[in-house]
Amino acid sequence: MASFQQSMAMFAEARRHVAGGTSSNVRYGDAPVPLFFERGEGPRLHDVDGNVLIDYVLGNGPAILGHAPAPVIAAVAAALANGQAFAGQFEGEMRLARKLKSLVPSADLVRLSISGSEAVHGALRLARGFTGRTKYVKFEGQYHGWLDNVFISTKPGLNEAGARESPEPVLMSRGQPPRVKDEVIVLPWNDLDVLAKALARHGPEIAAVMTEPVMCNCGVIPPQPGYLEGMRQLCDETGTVLIFDEVITGFRLGLGGAQGRLGIRPDLTVFAKAIAGGFPLSAILGRRDIMELVEPAGQVVHSGTYNGSMPSVIAALATLEALAADPDAYRRMESRGERLMEGLRRLGRQHRQPLLVQGYGAIFSTFFLDGGAVTDFRTAALADSARMTAFAGELAANGVRTTARGVWFLSMAHGDAEIDATLDAADRALGALGRKVA
Ligand SMILES: Cc1ncc(COP(=O)(O)O)c(C=O)c1O
Repeated sequence: MASFQQSMAMFAEARRHVAGGTSSNVRYGDAPVPLFFERGEGPRLHDVDGNVLIDYVLGNGPAILGHAPAPVIAAVAAALANGQAFAGQFEGEMRLARKLKSLVPSADLVRLSISGSEAVHGALRLARGFTGRTKYVKFEGQYHGWLDNVFISTKPGLNEAGARESPEPVLMSRGQPPRVKDEVIVLPWNDLDVLAKALARHGPEIAAVMTEPVMCNCGVIPPQPGYLEGMRQLCDETGTVLIFDEVITGFRLGLGGAQGRLGIRPDLTVFAKAIAGGFPLSAILGRRDIMELVEPAGQVVHSGTYNGSMPSVIAALATLEALAADPDAYRRMESRGERLMEGLRRLGRQHRQPLLVQGYGAIFSTFFLDGGAVTDFRTAALADSARMTAFAGELAANGVRTTARGVWFLSMAHGDAEIDATLDAADRALGALGRKVA
């Protein structure tokens, strides 16, 4: 059994110097404390206690090639000899934009940025600048970053979230100005009728519908057949900009993102995470007539000291090259993920635990929930999240790291041996969980 004494001692010490002991609140999810790592290698992380964990967190999604992928690290190391930040033009940006256009059909033009949160912010500003409208639609349970105007109803308490079909916008942090609630219309996902009614009622005020094409943050929830197609059509009919947040799904569900896989063409897309294999880079891309508003005459301003940062651009080019080099790589990753999903379902049955496993081989969710499927935030909220957190803790004790909320990320570096070892660990973890619940 893994022990995390050293991480616990270091976290106690970190809290004396780093506010809250960590630089991101998301990291509180690790059990028993945010863990301290020394290095990563392929599908594994080595922590300060000497534990070697098979990792399904993968930096919360970016490490699509695994940790420290040799071609990416080598390309960045070589490029660093030439400098780090120019605040000037760099030929790699152009090459990366061309590459993204070749992979993603909805991309006429590309803008680079650093984090997913700020690229989401840029896409919303573009949609507002283009339409002259202010409000936007977001879906309950979807996370688009931590900034004020989108950190709304990502995980609202059901006592304050209102009716399912007309949820109240709920702020998720102290310090957010209440007025941001006036700019958002929160809706349940996977319900085309509700979206149609909202657009019929508020259409002339709504600049954008922003959605993850596959919900990933409150659990992996695929779109119902026809849902995204209907959303596309409703946006066309009402002149509303359709923004896909592919921060997680991009380069994970395939080289063309979820939109390539599902055959939907949004107006704007935000990519981040896997695009640069773990280096900080995001991209806004989409329709020419919207994207070109960032030209000085268009008067939509998008800027940032580190935009198009040289090491990150080099990392993205190397990552996309490695992903494209092997046409079978995605299929192999998916089929290993599917084997893991199936194995977890079998173990759930064996241990008489209501373990619901849904999603795709490349990213899936485990919920402790009896029967059915999770289709939106409210059905996800029925799951026993405390049991999922306890399961993640037992998995960590048995050498497997996944997220406390039950989202599992696969990488190209996870091989059959890791899947087998993970299933063995899950067997022990479910056994321990059963003894605790009993
Ligand atoms: C779907 C989605 N959008 C946006 C973001 C924000 O990205 P970042 O953390 O890079 O700011 C995240 C982060 O997890 C995300 O999952």
